[in-house]
Amino acid sequence: MSDRFVGRTALVTGAASGIGAATARRLAAEGARVLLADIDDERGAAVAASIGDRAAHLHLDVTSARDWSAAAAEVRDRFGRLDVLHANGPGRVVPARPAHEMPESDWDAQIDVSLKAAFLAARTFCPLLAETEGALVITSSVHAATGIPGCAPYAAAKGGLQSLARQLAVEYAPRVRVNAVVPGPIMSSAWDGIDAEGRAATIRETPAGRFGTPEEVAAAVAFLAAQEAAFITGACLNVDGGWSVSTTSS
Ligand SMILES: NC(=O)c1ccc[n+]([C@@H]2O[C@H](COP(=O)([O-])OP(=O)(O)OC[C@H]3O[C@@H](n4cnc5c(N)ncnc54)[C@H](O)[C@@H]3O)[C@@H](O)[C@H]2O)c1
Repeated sequence: MSDRFVGRTALVTGAASGIGAATARRLAAEGARVLLADIDDERGAAVAASIGDRAAHLHLDVTSARDWSAAAAEVRDRFGRLDVLHANGPGRVVPARPAHEMPESDWDAQIDVSLKAAFLAARTFCPLLAETEGALVITSSVHAATGIPGCAPYAAAKGGLQSLARQLAVEYAPRVRVNAVVPGPIMSSAWDGIDAEGRAATIRETPAGRFGTPEEVAAAVAFLAAQEAAFITGACLNVDGGWSVSTTSS
């Protein structure tokens, strides 16, 4: 493992599980001090403890402006700076339904936890990231560009996140770089409810012939956040085993 993040600090949200936990581990392994933010305090604290002294858990609901303000105070107290923010969170949080049957409250809940959360992240931390010429990486999804029946708010939110990344990349240039990672099928707790047949179908749709791992997404996040990506901003990087370019995936 390299030492790209020695002397750097990072905040990762949705960090108690899956892609967020893997990013926190990766950044810490490369030298960063990391705050793992999540609503699941027990799991978040356990992941932080397993990383060691460089990591700590912070309670943060990504939909709460108040929690984001508290996180800013915590980051300033603990680190006095912020170099990397991975704006990440849960996947689909409402049941799949056709748009005409979708309760407004479900629409709002998904948009809040996905799209509004990244806005709150940027609003809170872009000024601090600007002080360090830092990087913001947002987790989108291949479903930004490909419909799945019943998932209108998820797809719209994930598409919005890519637009937001491009917008923020321009708005905060040249001091903050903003990029998105665009995962395809990644084996995490997000797939807990999907049976063997559904998983096998997904593997058939994926040119790589398998699910990706949270660690493979974390590697892309770390790359986008690192100095070697200094000329990359406003990009949306697929980490999907070719899912989005395959004719069998839609
Ligand atoms: N796993 C996939 O196949 C896949 C594919 C494309 C995109 N993604 C995206 O990757 C991101 C992470 O997904 P994952 O697979 O790691 O999921 P995961 O379920 O393993 O982890 C999500 C984490 O978010 C936390 N969380 C839930 N609500 C929260 C809130 N309000 N505030 C803060 N934290 C909250 C959970 O406690 C959990 O730790 C999601 O945005 C998802 O849309 C995942």
